[in-house]
Amino acid sequence: MCGIVGYVGERQARPIIIKGLHRLEYRGYDSAGVALVGKGGQIDLYKCKGKVDDLEHFLEGKDTTSTIGIGHTRWATHGEPNDANAHPHFSQSGRLALIHNGIIENFRVLKDALISHGFSFRSSTDSEVLVNLIEYIQDTNECTLEEAVRIALQQVVGAYAIAVIERGNARRIIAARQSSPMAIGIGEGEYFLSSDAASIIDYTQEFVYLNDGEVAVIEKGKPLQIKNLFGEASKVDIQKLEMSISQLEKGGYPHFMLKEIHEQPDTIVDCIRGRVNPETREIILSGVLDNKDKFLKAGRIIFVACGTSWHASLIGEHLIENLCRIPVEVEYASEFRYRNPIIRPDDVVIAVSQSGETADTLAAIEIAKRCGAFVYGICNVIGSSIARATDSGTYIHVGPEIGVASTKAFTGQVTVMAMLALVIGKLRGTIDMDYYHQVAGALLELPETIRKALESAPAVEKLASIFTYAHNFIYLGRGYNYPTALEGALKLKEISYIHAEGLPAAEMKHGPIALIDAEMPTVVIATLDHTYEKTVSNIEEIKARGGKIIAVISEGDTQLRKRADFCLEVPSTAECLMPIVSIIPLQLLAYYIATNKGRNVDQPRNLAKSVTVE
Ligand code: F6R
Repeated sequence: MCGIVGYVGERQARPIIIKGLHRLEYRGYDSAGVALVGKGGQIDLYKCKGKVDDLEHFLEGKDTTSTIGIGHTRWATHGEPNDANAHPHFSQSGRLALIHNGIIENFRVLKDALISHGFSFRSSTDSEVLVNLIEYIQDTNECTLEEAVRIALQQVVGAYAIAVIERGNARRIIAARQSSPMAIGIGEGEYFLSSDAASIIDYTQEFVYLNDGEVAVIEKGKPLQIKNLFGEASKVDIQKLEMSISQLEKGGYPHFMLKEIHEQPDTIVDCIRGRVNPETREIILSGVLDNKDKFLKAGRIIFVACGTSWHASLIGEHLIENLCRIPVEVEYASEFRYRNPIIRPDDVVIAVSQSGETADTLAAIEIAKRCGAFVYGICNVIGSSIARATDSGTYIHVGPEIGVASTKAFTGQVTVMAMLALVIGKLRGTIDMDYYHQVAGALLELPETIRKALESAPAVEKLASIFTYAHNFIYLGRGYNYPTALEGALKLKEISYIHAEGLPAAEMKHGPIALIDAEMPTVVIATLDHTYEKTVSNIEEIKARGGKIIAVISEGDTQLRKRADFCLEVPSTAECLMPIVSIIPLQLLAYYIATNKGRNVDQPRNLAKSVTVE
């Protein structure tokens, strides 16, 4: 949550920071601000409630000449979204300005101590406590800003990525991280700073990713210095990030979400490239093959994830149990971490995360590692905290996902899970090799299959206009498509704010069917698979109670065409890959209903893309 950008060099800092903040707005968008060291050495601070556009208006006509600055876009944790709580925050004397992403858990204790030393506060944030703590330490210890930051952070419990500038110093930014991402971009005589390297890719492709407990001294004209909280130097490891700027633009679509839905044929090409051999139909996942013994002797696989990634993991459970015959558990990372879970050394824990920064998933990984389990990551963001914290893993390679509602990451995650299950199944000898090659072939055809599924967009748009004003929806599915129902419901609620519930189709008669009347549309994923007839019976039960059925059906299914009120056709593929196809019309349905309702689909209320707080 929250986005951080910083710059120090020879160029004007403001436009670089504003552009970066726009790119980071997916991380939070309730207020924004920037602090610059002005010509006279003073810190000029501008911040306001609202989006980065509002900040830009606020800055119009102001003299912001400066070659050093820090900027922030906020997703409120402590204190409501207003001007005072927006970042940056001044220290009491105005000598320091700080931006912060994360949560200082012991801020109350620190705040009380500072109040007893005569400090007062302008905001209700934990971040203002931190900047005052740094100032207090610097004053009492008569030390440098860097030392004060290190000493202050030794007293802090919680998560943070921070950047601090000082009055009178137009050359240096101090940055630090603990459980919240921070990348430093290296330019020619200049440095960039961001909570997501992609936001500053226009300026450099060379990045240093701070590790937990590291403090960076970023000074114009000097080599980058990184130390731990006790002042010991750490290695400066520069990594290259290959990414094109067009991946960060809307490319003619009205919203990132729609662009990302339509990108899926291409993102799946990128996801399987170099992994599924088109000639031999052999699958290579180096992360698995390099750790063969772990997967060969795995007694159990435990997925840990949140939200959409958790839904993808439920599909992973089916895939691995079916094809590898290994018992699988799927855990909400937030529950797992606080439940004293039983983890054995022969367990393989698979952490699934688009952003690679989700706090609960990271914490679950730490627990699994402490218990001696082998931890495998399925991430999208290269170099993210989860990618680095895991023992090995597979990137989904679907490119930056900017719309807050996850779409192409879901299909990428399921695609990787299918490849994973095939590779492990082959290693363990639990998969029939004809079936292996058949599914590998279906994976190769998947981009084309998704392209065909996307042809339903005009029909979905029409359907959406019929149901825009429904107040509730039920989504049903079975087997591989039960998680698809959960995911379809999540898409609808998060961007349209319509209540929607996903259920296994057969569970209806155990209670939820009482909700059915003419006002309650039910979306059923009823493609031709081994539970098809059962799903048809479930549809009949709903129809008999006056419910309206929107069915996602296989191409050419005449039976359901006659029975359902509305049908959306999708092309067929291997049953175990079907969620990757059947989710497409559900993503589109949520999108069109939400846009009909005038919702901001890329930045839905109360949400942020990357949940780096508990
Ligand atoms: C839903 C959505 C969230 C995320 C969840 C986990 O559209 O985006 O539910 O899936 O916050 O995020 P990652 O995958 O980044 O760990």
